[in-house]
Amino acid sequence: MGENFLDIHYIGSYSDVKECPEYQSPEYCFIGRSNVGKSSIINYITGNREIARTSKKPGKTQSINLFKVNEEPTWYITDLPGYGFAQVSKSMRKKWSRLIDRYILHRANLTCTFLLIDIRHPMQENDRVFMNLLGEHRVPFTILFTKSDKLKQAELTQALDTYKQEILKEWETLPPVIVTSSVGETGREEILDYIHKTNAIFTKHIQ
Ligand code: GTP
Ligand code: MG
Repeated sequence: MGENFLDIHYIGSYSDVKECPEYQSPEYCFIGRSNVGKSSIINYITGNREIARTSKKPGKTQSINLFKVNEEPTWYITDLPGYGFAQVSKSMRKKWSRLIDRYILHRANLTCTFLLIDIRHPMQENDRVFMNLLGEHRVPFTILFTKSDKLKQAELTQALDTYKQEILKEWETLPPVIVTSSVGETGREEILDYIHKTNAIFTKHIQ
């Protein structure tokens, strides 16, 4: 996908939102349980397989990692640690959960949160809690279902349906949903379209 590479640069890793450099341009973060595929999807959509570090073992990303995408307008990507994975120690989980919550609540140029959910598993309690936190603080989010390559089409349709029903138990409307797979390479165009449309609205807004 040579011509599809985004001009992306790693800026740095930070252990708290207050250490992050401040920007005016839109920023998009990728959040979800450990191992859900946050770093992989960043590599996939930017066409740079190495920019975010990934691992088979949960708990790979341990800080706030900022990336800059050189386009007009410029935009930023944030890779974050995951929450709630049982194999990560309790103290680490607590630390990362605090780091994520503080980032979400205090990052001024955060434009949209991509909440990643592994489509193979039923709705998890910590995803439900996290969605409610976003709702409470009016942080806009879009759900990215990940690892869709692991399911057959009929299973995928069924899983999506079940999720929608679960979400509508607590929410009046569904958030935008994109089905993705960084292994099967699906969802990239939809995610980038969404980001570019949002950037256009953002730019119009500040002129
Ligand atoms: P932490 O940083 O530990 O929170 O994890 P993460 O959410 O960043 O996950 P990461 O991108 O490191 O991926 C975790 C594992 O899932 C790796 O082994 C990936 O290869 C695998 N993975 C990620 N996306 C997909 C996908 O779309 N399909 C499949 N089959 N595997 C995937
Ligand atoms: Mg990661």
